Amino acid sequence: MTDTAATPNVIRRADYAPPAFLIDTVDLEFDLVPERTIVKNTMRVRRNPAAAHTRDLELMGEQLEFVSAAIDAKPYANVRIHEHGITIEDVPDSFELTLTGACDPAANTTLSGLYVSSGNFFTQCEAEGFRRITWFLDRPDVMATYTVTLRADKAAYPVLLSNGNLVAEGDLSDGRHFAKWEDPFRKPSYLFALVAGKLVALEERIKTGSGTDKLLQVWVEPHDLDKTRHAMDSLIHSIRWDEARFGLELDLDRFMIVAVSDFNMGAMENKGLNIFNTKYVLANPETATDTDFANIEAVVGHEYFHNWTGNRVTCRDWFQLSLKEGLTVFRDQEFSAAMSGGDENAAARATKRIEDVRVLRQMQFAEDAGPMAHPVRPESYVEINNFYTMTVYEKGAEVVRMYQTLFGRDGFRKGMDLYFQRHDGQAVTCDDFRAAMADANGRDLAQYERWYSQAGTPRVRVTTRYDEAQKRYSVTLAQDYGNASPAARETQKGPLLIPFAIGLIGTDGTDLPLCLEGESAPNGTTRVLEFTEAQQTFTFVDVPAKPLPSLLRNFSAPVIVEYDYGNDELAFLLAHDSDAFNRWEAGQRLATRELLALAARAAAGESLEVNDALVDAFGRVLNDESLSPSFRELALMLPSETYLAEQMAVSDPAAVHAARQFVRKQLGTVLKADWLATFEKHRTPGAYEPTPEAAGHRGLKNLALSYLSELDDPADAVRLATAQYDAANNMTDRAAALSALLNASAATGGDFASRALADFYTRFEREPLVIDKWFALQATQRGSAKRPVIETVRALMQHPAFNLKNPNRARSLIFSFCAANPAQFHAADGSGYAFWADQVLALDAINPQVAARLARNLELWRRFTPQLREPMRAALEKVAAGVKSRDVREIVEKALA
Ligand code: TRP
Ligand code: ZN
Repeated sequence: MTDTAATPNVIRRADYAPPAFLIDTVDLEFDLVPERTIVKNTMRVRRNPAAAHTRDLELMGEQLEFVSAAIDAKPYANVRIHEHGITIEDVPDSFELTLTGACDPAANTTLSGLYVSSGNFFTQCEAEGFRRITWFLDRPDVMATYTVTLRADKAAYPVLLSNGNLVAEGDLSDGRHFAKWEDPFRKPSYLFALVAGKLVALEERIKTGSGTDKLLQVWVEPHDLDKTRHAMDSLIHSIRWDEARFGLELDLDRFMIVAVSDFNMGAMENKGLNIFNTKYVLANPETATDTDFANIEAVVGHEYFHNWTGNRVTCRDWFQLSLKEGLTVFRDQEFSAAMSGGDENAAARATKRIEDVRVLRQMQFAEDAGPMAHPVRPESYVEINNFYTMTVYEKGAEVVRMYQTLFGRDGFRKGMDLYFQRHDGQAVTCDDFRAAMADANGRDLAQYERWYSQAGTPRVRVTTRYDEAQKRYSVTLAQDYGNASPAARETQKGPLLIPFAIGLIGTDGTDLPLCLEGESAPNGTTRVLEFTEAQQTFTFVDVPAKPLPSLLRNFSAPVIVEYDYGNDELAFLLAHDSDAFNRWEAGQRLATRELLALAARAAAGESLEVNDALVDAFGRVLNDESLSPSFRELALMLPSETYLAEQMAVSDPAAVHAARQFVRKQLGTVLKADWLATFEKHRTPGAYEPTPEAAGHRGLKNLALSYLSELDDPADAVRLATAQYDAANNMTDRAAALSALLNASAATGGDFASRALADFYTRFEREPLVIDKWFALQATQRGSAKRPVIETVRALMQHPAFNLKNPNRARSLIFSFCAANPAQFHAADGSGYAFWADQVLALDAINPQVAARLARNLELWRRFTPQLREPMRAALEKVAAGVKSRDVREIVEKALA
């Protein structure tokens, strides 16, 4: 075996081979005891007729203690236990294999496999956690039906859950009891789950489209039952939406969601038994913000939608991960847009689109520019857990969305129908999905494959020409990948099929009817150009006067558009574009241009001054009552420091921070009267409602408060924020008020936040998700030379409520500081990096998956100013020298390579 931690094995897509054996049925019996759980696993195994003959059966296993083996119920001695699992030597063609083993859930801090959280048992099997429960071929193309028997102490574990239908339950001797579950659907092992413990459920019975009765349950710890209503409503909405939009019905009689407070990611789509991070289940007005409510709806939808896109049709291998994740993110985005009224209302729809594109640009574009750049369908990996990425999820969703942009909703639906008709019950590839879209729409999509195989963010350069005499307007598009990272460059083969949506705006601000050369009549005001060559010119005819182009409407492809707009043109688009996304985009371009110019001046030690055009444009948006509050909030939010730093030739977080703070203060000061009026106007008195409209008002009001908290004279902000904090009947307003108080303190050197901060802690001491916010607010606060935030963070690490083993808590303090407070994290003395290295190594010993996420925080180190680059590299090398896990090693080795 050469596969040691020091020379990690690379798994390659090109090496895919079908499994040598198939496993048709799995019968699991669990005797659940925290320190030593016994698992008896009886499988029907046969040689795979589609694979080369092998004598021995190799099963994966990790952290398992071997107890016994039997073939066809007779003890079998020809087994070898090794570091990767077990080899059953010289097996027949078809047989029943029984393996009994033991594991230690109480000691499992990785939160992969079977573990204990708050005294209850949970599992997490995606991607390769099942091998930590029993020996198995835990790859997604091995699909079986499962029968699961759980036995445990009845007082300690009154609730026993697994996938599918409950078929038997009863008492045993010694105060124990059992439950037996059967899942009628074949599934890969990564969708297996069990839960056991002291839990209670909110229940609802509904009838689905075909008139079938369904039992829905949201299981939580007893004290959280008052925070389950929103998750249940979100589940019901998800079920209804998937029926209406895609004709997909819930296929089980019972659908369960279980919340757990120790969880590595957001949630997991186990068949019929979704397991969720509490953060994406629990909400009531006092504890959850509007953003939390929206996230819960999105994640509940996401996991529910996996039941078809992921579970009924699953992935052949992990390189195909985006087959389920990109598609399911696209589905949850469409669902959220519909829930915010977006099916009828273009502006509401644009709001969701803007939020999604912000995440894509800030996070996925950055990933694509660094050493972890990979295609939506990666070619290789060392640790699959490192490939649950922004590229696979968010860019993958864009790649799915573009089919809909090309073929329309109906064409997309035809493709989905054909996909299920062909592949229900199978484990398939991204190519199979593309083929269904192509065949259903009578199109050749060979070129489209490059969206799956090429890494890097495409750049589209646009030039335009108006021919006054001929009344022709030509738009020339040129595509390349700019200066992509080496990791991305090696995947790039040729031009992409880019659906490029465009509109032309006349001098009066309205859209012009569009008629391309060769067409007999104008048709519509937005056109999706199919841009397929390295360079291509599209000519519009009968254009009465030189128009202003509205490019890549609704962000029709995940690309960077370069076009030389003037500031006045951007201001015009911000005021007039009928495409709400591009209105927002124009404001962002205007602000980005100004902020980058100021950052350059700040870096050079020159004085700063804000362009009046920006202040005027923002002022007009702020006071434009025809725009929805949520749109105005988004339009008035400056691009983040992280995004801005990435746009610089050499990232300089301190200069970006100085520039952005300067602009925030100017906007706050010059528009003070408008912010004050906006604050008053958008109060939401009365009972809290988590509707998009009410959330829009709160969002705009709290943005006003945050701008006011930048002023030299903090009196207004402090007065309003203090009153809002004390009177708040919801977490959105309370947290925003506390944040404004912290900001006013940092801006002026005063202390306006201590009382509220202390009150917040005592008020919510028993609500871990709220205490997470308490840590995060402090970790992301603005600091000053006198009060560096790292000191606060170090002190908070000693707080009795801090616990590195709980991923939510680690994220709330450590990740918030390292990833969401760039100016403080990138302190010139390198203190942030040293802290980061210590925490990566500490987490590495506890939970490699979470450690590897934190490890990624320095991957763009080569793009930073020389003064920062050196301490960053030193920190990376420190981690590389001390790392134990394959997860973290892959990340730091790629970063240093
Ligand atoms: N499949 C899950 C989702 O996207 C995410 C997931 C993958 C996950 N691996 C995990 C969740 C490990 C928790 C732990 O919905
Ligand atoms: Zn998913």
